[in-house]
Amino acid sequence: MSEPLVMGIESSCDETGVGIVRGAELLAHALSSSMEQHVRFGGVVPEVASRAHLEAMVPTLEQAYAESGIRVQDVDAIAVTSGPGLTGALLVGVAAAKALALAHDKPLYGVNHLAAHVAVDQLEHGRFGERVAALLVSGGHTELLLVDDIVTGITMLGQTIDDAAGEAFDKVARLLDLPYPGGPHIDRVARDGDPTAIAFPRGLTTGRDMDKHRYDFSFSGLKSAVSRHVQHEHRMGRPVNTADVAASFQDAVCDVLTKKTIAACLEHDVDTLIIGGGVAANARLRHFAQERAAKAGIKVRIPRLGLCTDNGAMVAALGAEVVRRGIAPSSLDLPADSSMPV
Ligand code: KG4
Ligand code: ZN
Repeated sequence: MSEPLVMGIESSCDETGVGIVRGAELLAHALSSSMEQHVRFGGVVPEVASRAHLEAMVPTLEQAYAESGIRVQDVDAIAVTSGPGLTGALLVGVAAAKALALAHDKPLYGVNHLAAHVAVDQLEHGRFGERVAALLVSGGHTELLLVDDIVTGITMLGQTIDDAAGEAFDKVARLLDLPYPGGPHIDRVARDGDPTAIAFPRGLTTGRDMDKHRYDFSFSGLKSAVSRHVQHEHRMGRPVNTADVAASFQDAVCDVLTKKTIAACLEHDVDTLIIGGGVAANARLRHFAQERAAKAGIKVRIPRLGLCTDNGAMVAALGAEVVRRGIAPSSLDLPADSSMPV
């Protein structure tokens, strides 16, 4: 079979995405985000996200047609994120994919959002070797994955036990009176700060915590430490040094993320690390990852930012892998599974 032509639909959080790929070749990458509607709430509101998906789905589909000159009639299969994610948001994409599959008699494939975040890298950097590790860091997830096979062999090595990495950035930005979503603002402000100014805690890195949670992450203690620091400065009548706090906080997050990830790569004999999710944009994370991976002889692959954040192309990329292997399609009663394991 020649490379399969696959459409992918994403709607697990606040991005409505429709992507079209032929094998590992990206043909359409249409996106609509409802982020602006969530800003005043300081976080993604599920009900608002679902309604926005409903409004954006058809225009985004049409945008993908316009970009590629390919319509749903032409594709070999339709892939859709069926989990994990916000239930109401997932349901919009799953319902749209089912309607298209039924109307045009196309096979439907429900795919895992986390696996899709990993698979998308192949659109940019070519097929993976035997075994890779992946660090996924966004507002909704923080996972460290061992990938022996993108379709059948993903193991969760670790994950956050409280806040997601991006969520920690967003909450700390709020403490520093920076706008939502806070990650890019902390990244920018931190450039003028001293990352060693304040010794913030590195969660789950010592003693029993480390033994029990070798590759897990925890950011809520760090967020509380930032909050205590800010309150202390206020009590002392001193202005908060936003740049130093941002730089020290960011350093703590990125230090732990990269240290544990590189240790996992070495333990599992992995020579390639993929980083995905919105936090992959962070300058400090990229710096630590590149520097520490190079020392350990590990290659780092980070897809361009538009492919790191949620999108339909990643769903299409994973769908194409599934189709290529001749795996049976999902049934038309495919459910949305908000806590789908990897
Ligand atoms: O993948 P994404 O666009 O959406 C989901 O959460 O699914 O990730 C958004 C998250 C937000 O928490 C945002 O603050 C964070 O990624 N983020 C960053 C940076 N850019 C975005 N965090 C740290 N540094 C950045 N430069
Ligand atoms: Zn995601």
